[in-house]
Amino acid sequence: MQTEHLIINDIVKDRPKIERAAALILAGELVGIPTETVYGLGANGLDADAAGRIFDVKGRPRDNPLIIHLAQMNDLDRYCINIPEAARILADRFWPGPMTLILERSELIPDIVTAGLSTVAVRFPDHPVARELIRIAKVPIAAPSANLSGKPSPTRAVHVINDLAGRIAAVLDAGPSRVGVESTIIDVSGKTARILRPGGITPQQIEEAIGSAELDTALFRPLGASEKPLAPGMKYRHYAPRAKVVIVRGEPGNVRDYVNEQPDRSAAVLCFSGEENLYTGKRTLAYGSETDYESLGENLFAALRELDCEDISVIYARCPRPEGVGIAVANRLLKAAGHEVVEV
Ligand code: TXA
Ligand code: MG
Repeated sequence: MQTEHLIINDIVKDRPKIERAAALILAGELVGIPTETVYGLGANGLDADAAGRIFDVKGRPRDNPLIIHLAQMNDLDRYCINIPEAARILADRFWPGPMTLILERSELIPDIVTAGLSTVAVRFPDHPVARELIRIAKVPIAAPSANLSGKPSPTRAVHVINDLAGRIAAVLDAGPSRVGVESTIIDVSGKTARILRPGGITPQQIEEAIGSAELDTALFRPLGASEKPLAPGMKYRHYAPRAKVVIVRGEPGNVRDYVNEQPDRSAAVLCFSGEENLYTGKRTLAYGSETDYESLGENLFAALRELDCEDISVIYARCPRPEGVGIAVANRLLKAAGHEVVEV
């Protein structure tokens, strides 16, 4: 299959390309779609066969449910039932945006999309191209991140092409994703709201909106052998480049000394801006300044993928403090590192 590369420079002039993508989706095909968080691998969320193909193409285990993407608030009541007040408040406050809500599903959603769960993940993305596509298709679009399972999520169309060219019908290319880490997932189907995955909407923002939200503590440590995460997807190795990732924590001087002492000739350092010259004899790549959590989030996955294109065996990484969007960045980096952290 030849993957069509549909470049959107102007949402009005390039509308025929969005219509083409919508037609492909309605024909049961898979299309890479831009969102403000990461690129998604979209299919008609009401078509069980098309949604099933997402799992095959990504190599995704079938017990890992998909997010459905909507383009208008009214649709929430079509696909979800028993929607609690807290969900309405969060939806009003943060949609369209980088937030996914877990709610009880209606029977319109095929089993394969929710991996047989009684709940469904829903998101109303804040990307003009994604919204236009969903509006034209007039169906909810089921979409996980458009990477091969286990790899860093794609934040540019070229990442989708590198992972999936030849296996999907098209990619809608609208440039780099603004947020760069996946949406915050909040389970509002039970009595208390729980954050299953940190993302672009921070725990503090959620607390300000609805009073309280529990952050799943398992997000920042390795899972025990018999432990089940709240979001099924969080149990899988994820966000990992081919190179081994090691987080090095400590004062910048100590980190520098530790990294410079490591003999690996093919090592790289994923560092903060301004630190590039601290490291001798190693490839350095800055992904943002230490406290600019938004820019660290925007660049993290692209940086991991860039290093993966080179012949690098180990990536020593600086990890931000777990504050604001830094919480999401730290969570992704810990997963990419398989929780391998050196304290110096
Ligand atoms: O920003 C995002 O959320 C991106 C863009 C494309 O929207 N999508 C994304 O999807 O990150 P994915 O499939 O890579 O991650 C979805 C996560 C998985 O960890 C999955 O297990 C969890 O959401 N999930 C989906 N349905 C769920 C449910 N009913 N209950 C608990 N977790 C659920
Ligand atoms: Mg994913």
